[in-house]
Order: sequence, then C-alpha cells, then structure tokens
Amino acid sequence: MSGMETSKNSKERAYSKPSPFSMVIFGASGDLTHRKLIPALYNLHVQGLLPEDYSIIGFARRDNTDEGFRGQLRDAMEKYASLDAIDPAVWTDFASKIFYHQANFDDVQGYYSLRQKLEDVADRGMRRPDGPSRQCLLDLKQNLLFYLATPPNYFSGIVDRLEQAGLNYCHSNKQEGWSRIIIEKPFGHDLQSARKLNAHITRVFNEDQIFRIDHYLGKETVQNLLVLRFANAIFEPIWNHKYIDHVQITVSETVGVEGRGPYYDTSGAMRDIMQNHMMHLLALVAMEPPFSLQANTVRDEKVQVLKALRRIPDECTSKCVVRGQYAAGVIKDQQVPGYLQEERVPEGSTTETFIAIKAMIDNWRWAGVPFYLRTGKRMPSRITEIDIHFKPVPQVLFNADNTLKHNILSIRIQPNDGMTMRFQVKVPGQAMNIVPAKMDFSYVDTFDQKTPDAYERLILDTIFGDATLFTRSDEVEASWDFFMPIIQGCHSKNTEKIPTYPAGSWGPTEADDLLIKDNRFWYLTYRSLKRYNRS
Ligand code: BG6
Repeated sequence: MSGMETSKNSKERAYSKPSPFSMVIFGASGDLTHRKLIPALYNLHVQGLLPEDYSIIGFARRDNTDEGFRGQLRDAMEKYASLDAIDPAVWTDFASKIFYHQANFDDVQGYYSLRQKLEDVADRGMRRPDGPSRQCLLDLKQNLLFYLATPPNYFSGIVDRLEQAGLNYCHSNKQEGWSRIIIEKPFGHDLQSARKLNAHITRVFNEDQIFRIDHYLGKETVQNLLVLRFANAIFEPIWNHKYIDHVQITVSETVGVEGRGPYYDTSGAMRDIMQNHMMHLLALVAMEPPFSLQANTVRDEKVQVLKALRRIPDECTSKCVVRGQYAAGVIKDQQVPGYLQEERVPEGSTTETFIAIKAMIDNWRWAGVPFYLRTGKRMPSRITEIDIHFKPVPQVLFNADNTLKHNILSIRIQPNDGMTMRFQVKVPGQAMNIVPAKMDFSYVDTFDQKTPDAYERLILDTIFGDATLFTRSDEVEASWDFFMPIIQGCHSKNTEKIPTYPAGSWGPTEADDLLIKDNRFWYLTYRSLKRYNRS
C-alpha cells in the first residue's frame, strides 16, 4: 500500500510517534550498517523517537546468531558512534529489538524464512508479560521497512525476491500496513542503467513506497537551505541573475578511497559525489519556490532545475569539465600514497578522484549565471560549502576604481555548519579605508547542541512516509541525463593521461584555470591560502 497515505511531513509529525514497524537491513554485516545505520537507530531510540514496538532484522550472508550480531554491533558502536558513552541499560533494551537472519540475497527460500522470522519476532513480543496489545503486534508485523545497504548489483534481485515472498504489499488494497524500501546510492551507473533499475523497482513497488536515499539531503544545513531562501524576506528578491554573479559549490574531502578501490574505480568523483550529492545542493539553491512543502511539490521544482541545465556537448567537455587524480602528497603533515598506489586500484587507472565543472541553468532566473562545482578526495581540508557571489556595486562612489570586494554569502554544510555574509565596512579613522567584514552564524554557537546525523533524520522520515528528502525517479534520471554527454566526452578521453594533483592540494591547476579564464577564482582556495600565508 502506498506510503503517502500515512505520510506526515516533519511539521505535522512533531508530536506524534510512528506506528510499530520492522526494519530489515540487507547487507547487515557491512560497513554502512555498522558505521551509520545502527548508530542512527540507537540515537533515535535514546531520544524516544521510535515506537515502543519495533524490530531490526539484519539480513546477511555470513553465519551468525542474534547474540553474535548484537555483540558485533555493540563493538561497532564503541568505534563509530559519536557518543560520549553508551548507556548499558539503554543498549540492552535496544539490542533486544535486534535479530539476525542468515540467507543469500538471491535465494527465495531465505525470504520465505524472513517472513517467518518477522512473524516469530512479533510473537515473541506478544509473549512479553508487559508486552503491547495484539493489535500493535499485528501492526508491527505489517509495517515493513527494507533497507538495501548492499552493493548495487543486488538491488534488482532483492526486489524480485521480496515480491516473490509477498513482502512488497504492492498493488494490494487489502493490506493494512505499509511496506517501504530504502535504496542506497549509486542509483545506476548512467542514464540507461538508472532507467532500467527504476523500471525494475517500480514494477514491484509503487513510487511512493520507494525511498532513494542520498544522505546529503539529511544534513541539517542542506535542509536549512529552503528555510534560508523561503522563510526570510530579504533573500528571494535578490536570488537571481540580476544580483548574483555566480555560484560555487565545493565538496572537498581529505580521505582517499579508504579500501573501496574496486567500487570507487568504476565510479570516480563524478558518479560518487557530483551526480547525486552535489546535484541536490545545486537544485536546492536554484529551484523556484514550491507552492507547498509536500514531497512531490518540492521535488517537482528540483527536477525543473535539473532539466534546465545546459547540456555540455562532447566537444566542449574540455572547456567546462576538469578531471584529476591524486598523486602522493602530504595531508596534515602525514605522507599519503597516490590513488594508483591505493589497495585494489587497478594499475594505470584513469578514474578521476577530482572533478570540476562549469554548469549553466537555462531559465529566466539564472540566465548567464555560472555554477562552478568541484569535488575531490585528498584535498587539504574536509569542507562542503556553497558560496553565492553577488554582483559588484556600480563603479562610482566607493568603487570608482573597481577594487571593492563583492558580497559573498557562504553556506557551510560541514564542518561547523552555518553561514557567513561578507560585506564592506569602513576602517575606523580619518581615512576612508574600506575592508570586507563578516556576519557569522554558527549552529553550534547559536543552539548549543549537536546537529543530528543525516541518517537519523532520513530513517525517521521513511518510517513516517515523508519522501521530501529522497530522490524521485525522474530526479535521478534528469541528473544522469545532464551527465551523459560529460561521461561520453570523458570516456573518449579515458585512454589519455589524466591530470594529477598532489594529495593535500586543491586539485589540478586546470581547475583553477576554469575560473581564471572567466576572471574568477575559487573562493575557498583563496581563503585557505590566505590563512596559510598568514600562519
Ligand atoms: C559518500 C561517498 O556518498 O559520501 C563517499 O560514497 C564520501 O566517497 C561520502 O566520502 C562523503 O560524505 P560526508 O557526509 O562525509 O560528506
């Protein structure tokens, strides 16, 4: 049955608890489950945001028991959860809701036995002396959340088996509960494979049961982009080509491929970060105001932006796209190897670990405003930031010699989430010296509380059936459609040598040239070099 019928957006649900559910995590022995999913579920449990009755069933191929699985998760919590301490009593309560189911992803028998396990788990709860009412337990059995935290080549097979075991509840008006599926990225490898996967999944689940997750959308500052734009009167009137000169979006990471060589080498920076995380950032910055906050209304507007992106023809990729690969270098005083020396990276690979593009949005609002996007691994610092560069003031009065710095609104997604506005002030004294100053807003300083992890927000959203922060099928396809000429353009050059950059630098010099030829520069790079020169 549809997820939408029971969906509640975050405002409506502020004071309500979700109904009982069972969550099945496919790929339960993997990294994502240990690092992100279980810590997020534990935090939701601690905050009392989950119902009394729920269960988590880890579905994986390795032999294990409920107890063994719980023990592994407890160890992982110690390692990865950003908690001061795990309360043993709370953990015991939380762990009692976790179970393990050993089966192969492609064996339908494993799904029939999963069905049985779901029933057993519910029955076990029924026998608890202070357990909930039978009605609740039936609900528990019937509200199902499947999380596909597996490599993407298993997605279609798992979906088919879920259908065979009747766990998709699709096209059945008799079911009282809901069944939803969360699918991790990467969603497809290109437009064709994304379309194929969409067609496959939507044959088994309705679109409103499908939650294509992109953890960037769960980040606090990303959600705050909508609030910044549409809950303040001052920004929207100037949020267009008349006042904005250009936009820069940077996602820089200090980490390398971290043992994910085989996955990363077929993905590269473009597919790993730019085609998904960065396209969401771009769409949220550039979208028109939606007429409501309903999931589909917001997503309609995001799709419009992606569709309006000017396609970069093959022959122009060299002008608008820069790829790079990190060579050995130094990050934070540590010598690190180059990409080609990383574990399980194929010899001579030309996969990019850095990509920068210049994108244009061909609509009225953004006519002539370039959006420069870049992302890379092994860069000097871990920063995700959106910089809105406003147009210069006219060349009169204080700017007669055209030397005044532009206003820049920097939206920091991470770390130190917040915003900074750069504006001009007079230096105290007799002379008319003007320098840029900053108005700064920081989440931590203002609210004195930690921002929740993206997965907490997104898992809770799926339990409530709110798809606003998830990618709809047409959004995925529109994004791939934009990247296809880039893929084709770069693919034809794949046999050529890829520019390298030393680990710990801001990418290949060609990425600086991308802006220099437009008389601009990467603002973040400039700031970090300024800081470096001062120190
Ligand atoms: C993932 C990518 O989607 O996002 C990783 O696969 C990347 O390669 C990660 O490191 C970055 O996420 P965050 O939240 O650390 O910016």
